Amino acid sequence: MTGAFEPRNIIVTGGCGFIGSNFVRWVAREHPAVHVTVLDKLTYAGNPANIAGLPAERVELVVGDVCDAGLLDRLVPGHDAIVHFAAESHNDNSIADPDPFVRTNVEGTYRLLEACRRYGVRLHHVSTDEVYGDLALDEPRRFRPDDPYRPNSPYSSSKASSDLLVRAWVRTYGVRATISNCSNNYGPYQHVEKFIPRQVTNVLCGRRPRLYGTGRNVRDWIHVEDHSRAVWDVLTRGRVGETYLVGADGERSNIEVLREILRLMGQPEDAFDWVRDRPGHDRRIAIDPTKLRDELGWRPVHTDFSEGLAQTICWYRDHEDWWRPAKEATEARYDALGM
Ligand code: NAD
Ligand code: DAU
Repeated sequence: MTGAFEPRNIIVTGGCGFIGSNFVRWVAREHPAVHVTVLDKLTYAGNPANIAGLPAERVELVVGDVCDAGLLDRLVPGHDAIVHFAAESHNDNSIADPDPFVRTNVEGTYRLLEACRRYGVRLHHVSTDEVYGDLALDEPRRFRPDDPYRPNSPYSSSKASSDLLVRAWVRTYGVRATISNCSNNYGPYQHVEKFIPRQVTNVLCGRRPRLYGTGRNVRDWIHVEDHSRAVWDVLTRGRVGETYLVGADGERSNIEVLREILRLMGQPEDAFDWVRDRPGHDRRIAIDPTKLRDELGWRPVHTDFSEGLAQTICWYRDHEDWWRPAKEATEARYDALGM
């Protein structure tokens, strides 16, 4: 598909979660002619407040499960594309209970693929760089689209499975689908279970941040708005059947990120606790976004990580009413795991 696809009426699954809701707000702002139907089950990670205030004639919320084939039969016809964010997304939760990960991430993607096949609808599948596994800390290379899949956690293996289903439905049934595999997102509306919001809200609550293992694990950070633009670029200009890696050259060790948070929040650099490591913890994850840059001309706008982090910290300071209700239960879950 080159240059021609102009969606008018899209379904965004998982549009009440972190990245999905940022994407919905981005589309509403940047592409006002597009109507968005958000399909979201509203799990613990989905919050309708994330898309509140958007024009009702352009953004509609349907509460439902992507595994519900009957619902998809009613909803999908008449739409021209599905952007599929809905997933169970947190590694630690997948280690504690893989069940909903297999159901939503694998079966849910299968149901959507079947609906796309039946109704001839374009699909963009949002996935993760964790499908490629990890790299040693001293290995100079980054992941590229054709690298083998070697996922290490129940979460990443369920996402890898969903990617493989997409691949097969393109090849066997001619479903018009693309895949993007993105690195670690940060920004507003991210659930307090995730690394950056957890540490920021811990400081705001007077709790000490928690660092797993040695703190030397490396993640490749990208602002969620840059991810939204990449998803749109692949949906509208990406080649069907292709995989695009999304990343912003943002590699940092966890301890570096935590020290930057502490510095920006006026805390001493050792004001945190070491806790036990995550089982199977991926060491270094880093991706090479050359294909996305060269083919589609995508570039990240948020290139100053400290500035993006400072803005994100301000957002959490200003939105305690948004994160406070989930904080206690989240920390109780971590306490039970000793993390
Ligand atoms: P999230 O956990 O914040 O949001 C997930 C959303 O999906 C929630 O609104 C939830 O209610 C909804 N959902 C869950 N199960 C559902 C079901 N069965 N039916 C309908 N809706 C359901 O997740 P996120 O961090 O925004 O991630 C979104 C997508 O991006 C996921 O597919 C994830 O694998 C992928 N991804 C995330 C990151 C990251 O850094 N967070 C990076 C790369 C890729
Ligand atoms: O790489 C993309 C992936 O990034 C996405 O597919 C996932 O949906 C998303 O959750 C994220 O996975 P991570 O496991 O990398 O994110 P998390 O925020 O859970 O952790 C980031 C790093 O910080 C990881 O090395 C574990 C560590 N960590 C995490 C928490 C919550 C800590 O040291 N302390 C913590 O309290």
